[in-house]
Amino acid sequence: KATIRDVEVQGKRVFVRVDFNVPIEDGRVVDDGRIRAALPTIEYLIRGGARLILASHLGRPKGRVDERYRLDPVARRLRELLGRPVHKVDAVVGPEVEQAVAGMGPGDVLLLENVRFEPGEEKNDPALARAWAGLADLYVNDAFGAAHRAHASTAGLAQFLPAVAGLLMERELTVLARALSHPEHPFAAVLGGAKVSDKIGVVARLLEKVDRLLIGGGMANTFLAARGYRMGSSSVEEDRLETARETLRAAEGRGTALLLPVDLVIADRFSADAQRRTVRVEAGVPEGWMALDIGPETVERFRAMLADAHTVIWNGPMGVFEMEPFAAGTLAVAQAMAGVKGTTIVGGGDSAAAVTKMGLAERMTHVSTGGGASLEFLEGRVLPGVAALLDREAVQR
Ligand code: 3PG
Repeated sequence: KATIRDVEVQGKRVFVRVDFNVPIEDGRVVDDGRIRAALPTIEYLIRGGARLILASHLGRPKGRVDERYRLDPVARRLRELLGRPVHKVDAVVGPEVEQAVAGMGPGDVLLLENVRFEPGEEKNDPALARAWAGLADLYVNDAFGAAHRAHASTAGLAQFLPAVAGLLMERELTVLARALSHPEHPFAAVLGGAKVSDKIGVVARLLEKVDRLLIGGGMANTFLAARGYRMGSSSVEEDRLETARETLRAAEGRGTALLLPVDLVIADRFSADAQRRTVRVEAGVPEGWMALDIGPETVERFRAMLADAHTVIWNGPMGVFEMEPFAAGTLAVAQAMAGVKGTTIVGGGDSAAAVTKMGLAERMTHVSTGGGASLEFLEGRVLPGVAALLDREAVQR
């Protein structure tokens, strides 16, 4: 795969697609992990004397201007992190943008408005991609987090400009691909999060690769129900019980250790100040109560399974970690991973947010910036943003 290191950037106008889809509260970026992750590419291009046109989406504004999703808070944070000016325009494309680009010198940084304000973005409209291509000499895709979207700025643009990967995109793909193709054993995966339906593709693929599969979080409820345990008012996907049974059979057939919770922290309602207690799964969850975290004995078992692992991939929290009383399971997995001697990879989304919040991100080999993208990659699906770069390379050759 070609990256920015393989091309001349000096003096070039470079359109860089980044994933600055970050949480914002009261006009401030509250988790800047994705912005920091893009800095190596941005700083490389600045040092190389390129003129940078940065583009990102934020939220899901549905193809029109929505004041809640302007990128100004992102521009402010980026200025602080870079320690240099970043010119933010209020337009995505058109005369205002053209004028701003015309006024740029080497090393200057321009940030466009939220690309999803344009209806052509999500439709992957070639007219929009062509208009952007007219602004630049080179297209760099560093938005791994959005690589599972076939949009104008994530895929379409590669048709109209020389296209290469940024350093974050390169690192994400290399780390994830190496873990899957040449893992050091024992190889363990920890999967959590709300739904089996979101993760079933990943479960199936990881079962072929890992020695140990640890399942917690909301999705464990469906597996426990499939085993015949009473789950009370816990969220259970009734239409996935058969899938869960098949998965349990497949694991048994392969001799993969599949661990489900043996105890649960349950609550009488979905609230931080709910009444709570710990129950063993055989005892069942009483009616009106719901499982919101894995219990202490499960934590011990999971910890033991991770302690001597040499490769660990984690995606999805073990409980409702946003509420302090139900955060212990997720915290324990994060801590256990921090102690692993080997490769530790945290899939994006909630688990990445959890390790960042817990201050453990630095202790991992890699915290992915992709939520949906890392899941689709782990499932073995082709990411349109990556495929567009590869196709482009084939054209260039
Ligand atoms: C993400 O947060 O997973 C990416 O930025 C993609 O966002 P999307 O799901 O709105 O396309």
